Amino acid sequence: MNKKIQKIIFKKRRTKIVCLTAYSKSIAKILDKYCDIVLVGDSMANVLYGLTNTHKISLNNIIQHSKSVKLGIKKSLMVVDMPKGTYSNKKNAKKNARLLKRITGCDAVKIESNKKNFNIISELVRSNIPVMGHIGYTPQFSKKFRIEGSSNIEIRKLLKEAIEIQKAGAFSIVLECIASKASKLITEKVKIPTIGIGSSSYCDGQILVTDDMLGLSGFYPKFVKKYIQLDRVIEKAIKKYTKEVKLKKFPTNKNFF
Ligand code: KIV
Repeated sequence: MNKKIQKIIFKKRRTKIVCLTAYSKSIAKILDKYCDIVLVGDSMANVLYGLTNTHKISLNNIIQHSKSVKLGIKKSLMVVDMPKGTYSNKKNAKKNARLLKRITGCDAVKIESNKKNFNIISELVRSNIPVMGHIGYTPQFSKKFRIEGSSNIEIRKLLKEAIEIQKAGAFSIVLECIASKASKLITEKVKIPTIGIGSSSYCDGQILVTDDMLGLSGFYPKFVKKYIQLDRVIEKAIKKYTKEVKLKKFPTNKNFF
């Protein structure tokens, strides 16, 4: 098994796992200093491409951004989201995951669970492609946003799903918007690390969409903490630049040849 993946698994119940998303080299380079896992998420559909869901992001979009991210990564584990439709059967999953790994140099792929595609995970793992699972709110398959795991029946179903994903050979699972009682139970019962987003501090690690936590995306549900309002910082700089250009204060002779 890839050494970086062994390290991530070892952190379970020892130290929290830090994860964020990146779509480009410049952000990846900063994240790499602090994060255990950098995810090239298909959330780029909403964040970068202004789409209303993640369904239309193509394998080619993901490949191009992953190539850029790879240039910024030295030490963290690079995981790449497989877009909707690219792992609908064993054959296309294997072909597309191999392509992703070969062209982008990523360490692992993430696939969302549709509650029955466990065989896809085992097929990829058998082919030496490490897989991160994803349960709860799964934007590629869920019809509507909702918190999962609020009733005992749902808790049992989610736990079963997490155990199936573990059995299939995934090295970790993202728990998205799962009620805290359920995420606590899943985290206690599975041996692989759980990475939460909107799923409580019981998870072994946390992930956020970087543009959300930087205050750049305009999308701030309850589970997002804005660590800075970068939109305001950027606007201030752009405003100053605009003013200086108009007042002929920029460029000065320091800025030209
Ligand atoms: O696409 C993404 O950014 C994700 C995270 C929210 C887990 O899947």
